[in-house]
Amino acid sequence: MCWSKLTSQKNACRKAKILLILGVFFNAHLYKDTVMFSRILNAIFLPLRIICSHEFVNKLGLRSLRDERCDKVMEHCRGRLLDIGCGNNQLVRKYGHDSVGVDVYDFGGGAIIVQDTSKLPFDDGSFDTVSFVASLNHIPNRHEVLTEVLRILSENGRIVLTMISPFIGTLRHKLAWWDKDQDERGLKKGEELGLSHEYIVSLAENKGFRLVKKKRIMCCLNNIYVFEKRHEKCSEAN
Ligand SMILES: C[S@@+](CC[C@H](N)C(=O)[O-])C[C@H]1O[C@@H](n2cnc3c(N)ncnc32)[C@H](O)[C@@H]1O
Repeated sequence: MCWSKLTSQKNACRKAKILLILGVFFNAHLYKDTVMFSRILNAIFLPLRIICSHEFVNKLGLRSLRDERCDKVMEHCRGRLLDIGCGNNQLVRKYGHDSVGVDVYDFGGGAIIVQDTSKLPFDDGSFDTVSFVASLNHIPNRHEVLTEVLRILSENGRIVLTMISPFIGTLRHKLAWWDKDQDERGLKKGEELGLSHEYIVSLAENKGFRLVKKKRIMCCLNNIYVFEKRHEKCSEAN
C-alpha cells in the first residue's frame, strides 16, 4: 500500500473520531434517558456547567446546576410549598401541589411579587414547607423573614434551604459573567455571596427551628439544609 493512501486513511479515521466526539457531545440530549451516560457526561463537563449560563448548558443537552439543585430540593419538600426568593418560579412549577413562589423582583413564571418577604400575604400555618433556594443570602432582613416563616408554617412544617459557602459564592460570582441578576441589579446592602454553616444553623435555631439534615450536594459545591419547627416539650407540671 502506498504511503499517501495510508496517510489519507489515517486522516479519515481521525476526522471520523472528531466527528463522533462532537456528535455525542452536541446531541447529548438524545441520550438523556441513559442515566449512567448522562451522569458521566455531566460530571465530565462540570466546569462548563459552572461557568456557563443555565440556558446555554441546557441547549448543549447537559443538566444545568440550577436544574440539579431544584431536583435535590424537591426530594425534601412535603405538602404545600412556599418558595421564597423563587426567581423564575421553576421549583414551584415543577413541584405543583398548589404551591406558591414569592420574590421581590419579577423574573416571570407566575411568582407573587412582594415588597418585603417579612410581611407575607398568607394565613398562619398555611404551608408545610418553605424553601430558600440560593436566596437566603440575598435577603438582608433574613431574621425578620424567618420569624414570618415560623408564623406561616404548619405545626410540623419544615424549611428546606440550599446555600453555598462565602468562599464558593465569591468564586462563582466572579465566574458567572452571564448572571443578569447580579449584573443588572448588583448586590444591595446586607446581601452576601454565601453564608457559613455556623451562621445558618445559629440563625435558624435562634428562631425556633432545629436542624434535621445537612448534606453536601452538587459535587460538594453546595449544601442542602432541612430544619423543622422545634416543639418545646411541656413540663410535667403543665
Ligand atoms: C440566586 S437567585 C435564586 C433564584 C431561585 N431561587 C433559583 O433557584 O433559581 C436569588 C433570588 O433571591 C431574590 N431576592 C433578592 N432579594 C430578596 C428579598 N429581599 N427577599 C426575597 N427574595 C429576594 C432575587 O430576586 C433572586 O430571585
